[in-house]
Amino acid sequence: MPITYKINTDLPLESAIDLYVSSTLGERRPVDDRACVQKMLSEADLTITAWDGDLLVGISRSLTDWCYCAYLADLAVRDTHQRQGIGKELIRRTQAELGKKAHIVLLAAPKAVDYYGHIGMEHHASAWILRATSRLTD
Ligand SMILES: CC(C)(COP(=O)(O)OP(=O)(O)OC[C@H]1O[C@@H](n2cnc3c(N)ncnc32)[C@H](O)[C@@H]1OP(=O)(O)O)[C@@H](O)C(=O)NCCC(=O)NCCS
Repeated sequence: MPITYKINTDLPLESAIDLYVSSTLGERRPVDDRACVQKMLSEADLTITAWDGDLLVGISRSLTDWCYCAYLADLAVRDTHQRQGIGKELIRRTQAELGKKAHIVLLAAPKAVDYYGHIGMEHHASAWILRATSRLTD
């Protein structure tokens, strides 16, 4: 069955959590905090999903201003469907929706450090994080 793609469609919480866990991205996302995952889904600006029939097999979830930049917060493909071009297609469609001038930025998960360069993205050596548990210096 061909993979179909949807933009900002209603996403059942359980399906999304199941996908995050299956892809292994769930190890690095707060999947045990259902309220947080619900908010991650409802407050995203652009969510593109991939479907194999009724089965959710991929997600690209971004926060964006639609003109300058987009933070691609989550990219995940179900374990059974990885390396079939779905991740790349999700990013292609994300870029197409953002318009011509918006940059996409993201932080690669350890398992995907080589992925983004492989598909043509540019490595940026100066990404910075202020973790929720950290504070700025005085
Ligand atoms: C990383 C991930 C999103 C890639 O999606 P995917 O649909 O499996 O990958 P694609 O089919 O788009 O792969 C495109 C190309 O990248 C390669 N590739 C896939 N995963 C890769 C990886 N982890 N590292 C390096 N190359 C990878 C594929 O072999 C393919 O190469 P080719 O075009 O030369 O044949 C997916 O494997 C995944 O969900 N991984 C676990 C969760 C994760 O780490 N997500 C990223 C969060 S930042």
